[in-house]
Amino acid sequence: MHSQKILSGKKVLITAGPTQEALDPVRFISNHSSGRMGYSLAKVLLNRGAQVTLVSGPVHLKLAHPALRIYDVVSAREMLAACQARFDETDIAIFAAAVADYRPETVAATKIKKRSDTFQIRMVRNPDIASEFGRIKLPHQYSVGFALETNDELEHAREKLIKKNLDMVVLNSLNDPGACFASANNKITLLRPGIHPQSFPLKDKRLVAIDIIDAIAADWANQAKLSSQSPHEYENMYR
Ligand code: CTP
Repeated sequence: MHSQKILSGKKVLITAGPTQEALDPVRFISNHSSGRMGYSLAKVLLNRGAQVTLVSGPVHLKLAHPALRIYDVVSAREMLAACQARFDETDIAIFAAAVADYRPETVAATKIKKRSDTFQIRMVRNPDIASEFGRIKLPHQYSVGFALETNDELEHAREKLIKKNLDMVVLNSLNDPGACFASANNKITLLRPGIHPQSFPLKDKRLVAIDIIDAIAADWANQAKLSSQSPHEYENMYR
């Protein structure tokens, strides 16, 4: 099947944007994620006929399409709950959100007043949404994660591929000038099990989204080919 058509009708779950972790009624801990990468991926998939569920943290982006459902969430735990409700029906999951790894252990019921010169916040681990999907995912389900690294990039990205049971990791290096997660451009390397890492030049995030979706479509086409082959044919391919 032509790669433009292979994802038509597929159910795709995408996380996008930052999460905000409340400290008190007026403050939160968050990050600079714009959500642009996740929203660009959603747009490309919708153009290719996929049914997209976008679970989005607080962003300033808008997207509307008859085949798109958007769930607006704030915290990592809300993002996980919205995703979990869709895990079973998902063909492809793309974890593009910059989920806060930790949240304040307690959320004050009233605004925290300044009293002392120093102030400590005790943080606890948030759930890992990509890992949760990796733990329960079935053989026909495909998942993609992102890795933003500053050092030993390939090694850390490979670790994420295995630890989170992903089929693809999109690596962004903070050592690449002009490519950071609050920027309009991105420079990526794609890692997939058994395939040599594939690097792309610096591009607008909308074009990066096309490269990522093309790679997913190619994998999906191969997977469909493999599962329609007899076990004997399948074994021969890896001789
Ligand atoms: N991710 C997630 N839930 C989390 C943290 C991360 O779903 N609580 C996803 C991100 O959306 C991304 C991938 O996991 O696709 C990698 O996230 P990252 O924060 O870089 O990896 P960590 O495993 O948290 O490793 P570290 O922060 O130590 O680099």
